[in-house]
Amino acid sequence: MKKISKICCIGAGYVGGPTMAVIAAKCPDITVTVVDINEQRIAAWNTEKLDQLPIYEPGLAEIVGEARGKNLFFSTDIERAIDEAQLIFISVNTPTKTYGIGKGMAANIRYIESCTRTIARVAKDDKIVVEKSTVPVRTAATVKAILEHTGNQVKFNVLSNPEFLAEGTAVRDLLNADRVLIGGDSDPDGQAAIAALVDVYAHWLPRERILTTNVWSSELSKLAANAFLAQRVSSINAMSELCEATNADVREVARAIGMDSRIGAKFLQASVGFGGSCFQKDILNLVYIARHYGLREVADYWEQVIRINAHQRERFAKRMVTSLFNNVSDKKIAFLGWAFKKDTNDTRESSAIYVADFLIRERAQIHVYDPKVSLDQMRQDLRELGSRPADVNDQHLFASSDPYEVLNGAHAIAVMTEWDEFKTLDWPRIHKDMEKPPFVFDGRNVLERRELEAIGFQYSGIGA
Ligand code: UDX
Ligand code: UDX
Repeated sequence: MKKISKICCIGAGYVGGPTMAVIAAKCPDITVTVVDINEQRIAAWNTEKLDQLPIYEPGLAEIVGEARGKNLFFSTDIERAIDEAQLIFISVNTPTKTYGIGKGMAANIRYIESCTRTIARVAKDDKIVVEKSTVPVRTAATVKAILEHTGNQVKFNVLSNPEFLAEGTAVRDLLNADRVLIGGDSDPDGQAAIAALVDVYAHWLPRERILTTNVWSSELSKLAANAFLAQRVSSINAMSELCEATNADVREVARAIGMDSRIGAKFLQASVGFGGSCFQKDILNLVYIARHYGLREVADYWEQVIRINAHQRERFAKRMVTSLFNNVSDKKIAFLGWAFKKDTNDTRESSAIYVADFLIRERAQIHVYDPKVSLDQMRQDLRELGSRPADVNDQHLFASSDPYEVLNGAHAIAVMTEWDEFKTLDWPRIHKDMEKPPFVFDGRNVLERRELEAIGFQYSGIGA
């Protein structure tokens, strides 16, 4: 078995950055170089000031601080890193296609292809190429074909090794993964490549948690896992609407069903909808693949998970407008949170973007406080949605680093992210400074309803 001493990872994003930092920290005998075409991002990974890394994750700065410059390097010299490594992770983004065949559904693998071509061109000795990015099932065949047709006659082994970390808990998830999944070919070369990668993870994880499969199972398992997780959120969100209609309380329902060990308690938190870079993209991709194979019922089944999510966002926004006397024009609406979940600065597909978009259509003034997201990022998110000219958005979207400034004079508060600090805000002071009646729409069910009502707030949560 080939012993790995040098690893390269292409893509210094939310997955590549934290994953490689943990590998470097746990494998002092391996040199890990993370490369990216984005010079600014690499510069930010190399910053002296560890609180200014491009990605915020609890515990990440400490790990990067310890390993960087010893056996962890961030660089824009992609070719050199490829040339030197025995094992190369591809961890570039695979967004939903925005053009042509599969527009709005299929995953765009153009970056996977371009990285593969670079690897083929540069590699002068045998390499193990690992798909870390989430890809459509059977992408490894494409990667292999490109490597073999355009390479320098060296041997390539392609593995699938999807990453299951969740943002906000990335470091914890990596250090203590439920499982690591590695898919590879069944021939001796494929098995040797699998063994080499198993050996990397075995530096800190028990072997029984390292699962090996064929390549296609591994690729599909990642899509399946995200589809199942998202389905749970849509299932409880669908129940939340029924709870509102029947006076049941979705938190009580979730608790009652979650205690059944066959169902389990996790991922039953009703919310204003799931966000993040993965769930929607991966389910759309799954639906697209199912349609490609002519499996209409399968495609329709999974598509419903996305439809419920869009419905949940819209119904939350509509309820705000209805409660505010069917008029939010020029009203100040305070958003607590913009990130798609707590403990991350990532805003991709955050429900906050969609709810803000809906309210701006009604001419509301949105003022946001999020501890980790800048106004520029929020504006870019709305711009990317493309509902209206950017300058109109800009006249309706504001942010401040002081939550009390955002809340002062507001007609309503929408809790969009479950940041812990929102619970300990000075709620009596907020009540005093708001327009009356003061509404709180808790899109995350994280505030204490009874306490807020006792102060005089009009509280409405999700599914209660
Ligand atoms: C990851 C996975 O790779 C994706 O497939 C999964 O579904 C979600 O998580 P993520 O790390 O979140 O993506 O993406 P991002 O933060 O956008 O990072 C990707 C990085 O790759 C970017 O920094 C980008 O500059 C870089 N990149 C992209 C390259 O270096 N080369 C390219 O050709 C394309
Ligand atoms: C997800 C998967 O969990 C992870 O395994 C995969 O690698 C990438 O996609 P991530 O998107 O980072 O991770 O976060 P996750 O914790 O799964 O949350 C996704 C969204 O669902 C968030 O908006 C979250 O707020 C929402 N959610 C989650 C709920 O609304 N209710 C829940 O009970 C759980």
